[in-house]
Amino acid sequence: MTLGTPQAYGDASYWDNRYRQDNGPFDWYQQYSGLAPLFHLYIPKRHRILMVGCGNAVLSEDMVNDGYQEIVNVDISSVVIEAMQRKYQDYPQLKYEKMDVRDMSAFENNSFDSVVDKGMLDSLMCGSNAQQNVGKMLEEVRRVLKPRGVYILITYGGPHVRMPHLKAPESWTTTLHVVAKPGSRRALETPSWVVTDPIPMNDDGSLGPDFHCEDPDLHYVYVCIMDPSQHTTKTYK
Ligand SMILES: C[S@@+](CC[C@H](N)C(=O)[O-])C[C@H]1O[C@@H](n2cnc3c(N)ncnc32)[C@H](O)[C@@H]1O
Repeated sequence: MTLGTPQAYGDASYWDNRYRQDNGPFDWYQQYSGLAPLFHLYIPKRHRILMVGCGNAVLSEDMVNDGYQEIVNVDISSVVIEAMQRKYQDYPQLKYEKMDVRDMSAFENNSFDSVVDKGMLDSLMCGSNAQQNVGKMLEEVRRVLKPRGVYILITYGGPHVRMPHLKAPESWTTTLHVVAKPGSRRALETPSWVVTDPIPMNDDGSLGPDFHCEDPDLHYVYVCIMDPSQHTTKTYK
């Protein structure tokens, strides 16, 4: 499934209605098996992890079953959060809280080692006031991350549409990986790349000859690592 058409993807009411009609579970884009090599590379098992826009994905459960110890999941939809709280009441490693990622003031500065985003930023990109909302969200992500913390964005958006949001301000360094879409032509081929090897990216967001900026058979994984000298001291009243 692709989040491609501008709709009300940024609205809580859109997601509440959707989760009332279909209580899943459903993982957008990729399942854990496709992402695990990258998570193993960048997210140590002891990390305190924030999963933004968790929906009713199985990703967090799969991570816990693989040894991750603490994952705080947030979503703007109270319908999905209540369902996930019931589903995972016997998993002490998983917490679910209703929250808008544009205002995560319930969390202290520098309180997470990693933030995982699969389809969350994409939802804001597809809604109204995208630029402003994505800016607010990324400011909050940077605020809650510790120095050297990691933000992992899994998205259908290629570098020329995502890097303008990720590269300013320069408080982190961004590395790109690509993963074939499950069931796509790319997934059936022997890949000409190794998923854990970063893809060289030019300043204008263009890629090497094997990759087209908007290849419909690829998902893009941006790994942003906080520069320890730039971490935020912003406080909320
Ligand atoms: C495309 S779905 C991705 C769900 C899940 N991460 C996955 O990979 O299957 C986007 C999710 O973001 C949530 N969402 C949208 N806007 C939000 C916001 N401002 N704050 C928190 N969650 C939001 C939606 O409720 C929805 O569950």
